[in-house]
Order: sequence, then structure tokens, then C-alpha cells
Amino acid sequence: MTEHVPRVRIVADAQAAVPLLLDVVRRALAARPLPLLGFATGSTFTAFLRALGAELHDGRLDERAFVATHLDEYLDFAPDADGGMVHELGEECPPLRAMLARGTFLPVPAVGDDAALAAHAQRLQRAGGVQLQLLGIGRNGHLAFNEPGTPFGAGFHVATLAASTRDDARARFAPAEPPTHAVTSGPANILAARRLVVCAFGARKADAVHAMLHGPVDERCPASLVRRHADVAVLLDAEAARALPGLAAASG
Ligand code: GLP
Repeated sequence: MTEHVPRVRIVADAQAAVPLLLDVVRRALAARPLPLLGFATGSTFTAFLRALGAELHDGRLDERAFVATHLDEYLDFAPDADGGMVHELGEECPPLRAMLARGTFLPVPAVGDDAALAAHAQRLQRAGGVQLQLLGIGRNGHLAFNEPGTPFGAGFHVATLAASTRDDARARFAPAEPPTHAVTSGPANILAARRLVVCAFGARKADAVHAMLHGPVDERCPASLVRRHADVAVLLDAEAARALPGLAAASG
């Protein structure tokens, strides 16, 4: 299978990535009418989602010019459930709430039955397929909630969360225990997107970033699947990039 080399760019921090990400969104809007844009949650994207919300609120971007979706949702978390992914997207980027109400934000179902998952996949297809998918990466190399060992051929499915994933989510749910399961976009869904942009900031992501870009392309590091995609950009800060060979000259 062909292996591609993602374009890697080093930025100062998550805030410095914001104009680049907004530019990627603008280019997706210019490339075709009503593109389906796949957003991602997590602290990696907080600054971007807030900035996107401001662009939409102030009319520099038009929320009627695209359809939105995202990667994953905790099992049984309704869209308005505190701690859930749809809730987080609406908190950080309020225009997405209005899009949800209008039916132009297609949320990942919080139930794992085959019919609901198939219906979601069909909705994405009817919207033309994901044109741009933003992705964070877990400390253990997960993408969305595809934990190590997930077959690259898997589509939307219910994932059992890894211990490190639950630990990272613990503060979000304290004093309750973090969820154990989530519905997630599968590796096959991620690979089907036209363009991928992966972001990782901070030293705790350095090993996963190294495995993504330089380890074997296999299911032990789900993020390594991005090397099976021909159009991938990776935005890192220096800390997340520190295990990579030969990047010192690429900063800026
Ligand atoms: C969760 C999400 C992932 C995300 C990851 C990283 O596990 N399912 O899509 O990449 O968190 O989160 P953070 O950006 O907070 O490090």
C-alpha cells in the first residue's frame, strides 16, 4: 500500500495555529459549495473553535456556507449533555448550536446500534463526504476514539476507551468516573475524508507524534494511518515535535 509523507509545520503554540486553521477552512469553503467540514474536540482545538465562533458571529465566515460534523461522542451522551463532544463544540463555538438546530450540524449518534451508525454514515455521504477533517491525537496514538488495535478497515463503531484516554478525561467528569465507551468515526471514515489536518501541542504528545510519522504504519498506532492518505498537514508546537528528527530548521 502506498505510503505518503505528511507535510509538517511547526508553530509556536495552539494560538499560533488558529490563523492557519481558519485559512484551511476558508480554502475548503472556496473549493466547493457547502462543503462538509469535520471538527474535532479536545483542548488542542479550543483556541481554534473559539476563533471560528468569533468569525461566524462577526460575519467574516458564513455558517450557511458549510455543513458541520465531528469525530466522536461518548456513548449515551445526548447532544446537550455536559461533558459530551457535541456539547463541547457548542460551548466553544456557539454558532454550531444554531447549525445543530437547523440540521446543518450532523452530530455523531450517541447510540451504538447498527442502524443509527449506518444512518449517520449515509447522512455524511449525502452531504458529499467530509472535505476537511481536523484531528487531534491521543497520548497513546489514538485518532478520534480509535484506540490501539482498531482495524484500519473499521467504520463508525462503539469503542472501549483505553485507560490513558479515560485518565485524560477524568478531570472533565470529576468527581464522577469518566465514560468507558464512545461512538467513534473509524479509521476507514477518517481515511475517506478529502483532506486531513492533524494538530498536536505539548510534550505529552511527542511520543505519539513520533509514532504517527516515523513508526510502523499499523494498528498499534492508529494515527499512523494518516500516512495512507495523500493530503495530510500536521501542525505541531516544538514540544510535540521534539522527538522528530531534523525539524529544527522547519520552525516558523
Ligand atoms: C479525545 C478525542 C480525540 C482527541 C483527544 C485529544 O480523546 N476523542 O479526538 O484528539 O481527545 O485531546 P486533547 O486535545 O485534549 O489533548
